[in-house]
Amino acid sequence: MDDQFARDIMHGLSSTPKYLSSKYFYDKQGDLLFQKIMNLEEYYLTRCEYEIFQNQKDQLLQQFSKDTCPFDLIEFGAGDGKKTKVLLEYFLQQGADFSYKPIDISRNALELLAKDLRKSLPGLDLETLQGEYFDVLSHAKSEPNRRKVVLFLGSNIGNFLKPVAVKFLSQLANSLSQKDLLLIGVDLVKDPKTIARAYNDSQGITREFNLNLLTRINRDLGADFDLDNFDHFPIYNPITGTARSFLISRAKQTVSIERLNASFHFEAWEPVHTEYSHKYRIDELAGLADESGFKVVNNYFDSKMNFVDCLWQLDD
Ligand code: AVI
Repeated sequence: MDDQFARDIMHGLSSTPKYLSSKYFYDKQGDLLFQKIMNLEEYYLTRCEYEIFQNQKDQLLQQFSKDTCPFDLIEFGAGDGKKTKVLLEYFLQQGADFSYKPIDISRNALELLAKDLRKSLPGLDLETLQGEYFDVLSHAKSEPNRRKVVLFLGSNIGNFLKPVAVKFLSQLANSLSQKDLLLIGVDLVKDPKTIARAYNDSQGITREFNLNLLTRINRDLGADFDLDNFDHFPIYNPITGTARSFLISRAKQTVSIERLNASFHFEAWEPVHTEYSHKYRIDELAGLADESGFKVVNNYFDSKMNFVDCLWQLDD
């Protein structure tokens, strides 16, 4: 993992234009900052998905347990599990026959989540799975009498551009069987000003979140990034539907990274791309399902139609 991190940073900073992968945002501090982001007024995504779960948990349970099949809820990247907890709590109340299996790369995030759930939902059948999503999923025993319901929430799919999203979802389709389901949370195209604000909040938390990537490289790879010399620059393009974040070098400067045995030159105002957050139109999502080997079972919207949770199953 560490070597992969070093290789990826080396590759990204040696490329033109320079880039760093948003998957490296999520160290301990990054997890905390993302939790703060999810509570921000401007970051509407989490609230919308929460509302969907609050209002449509019964319809979801009916689909998940169709034909009285017991099910395993397998969540990719569960984070603090706040939204999922709405479903878990309700499913337990209803006496549903299910287990919850959150998968995360971060052992720390899983331990915190498990601690919280054991306390607040003691009756929950819980198994945390640490590792890369597909490694873990392919090792998960396939039990013929249980349905897998994979949760990929929070518009995490938007952090991939469309061709990569299709590849990811096709790989997921390959590890599912006919009775399994995928619930995928997706942020929808809307007023560009609303989207732009979500990635440039007034308290500067998203700025800190983006810059924390440099702090992580300083700490883990012995770099000497001066954070005052970089700025957070997010921009939403309503033609492509993609919000992108950059770190902008505010001056001509050279940064050394000891563990890479390398130095990197930055021109004044040179951008380093750090994140894609793609927004879909609802009609595009049926196409995305189709291209990835899925078909749409149902779409669940929030009251403002800002966000959708799509329920998909394998296309036959
Ligand atoms: C995790 N992911 C879906 C978030 C997003 O909206 O792209 C990460 C994030 N980046 C800035 N704010 C939130």
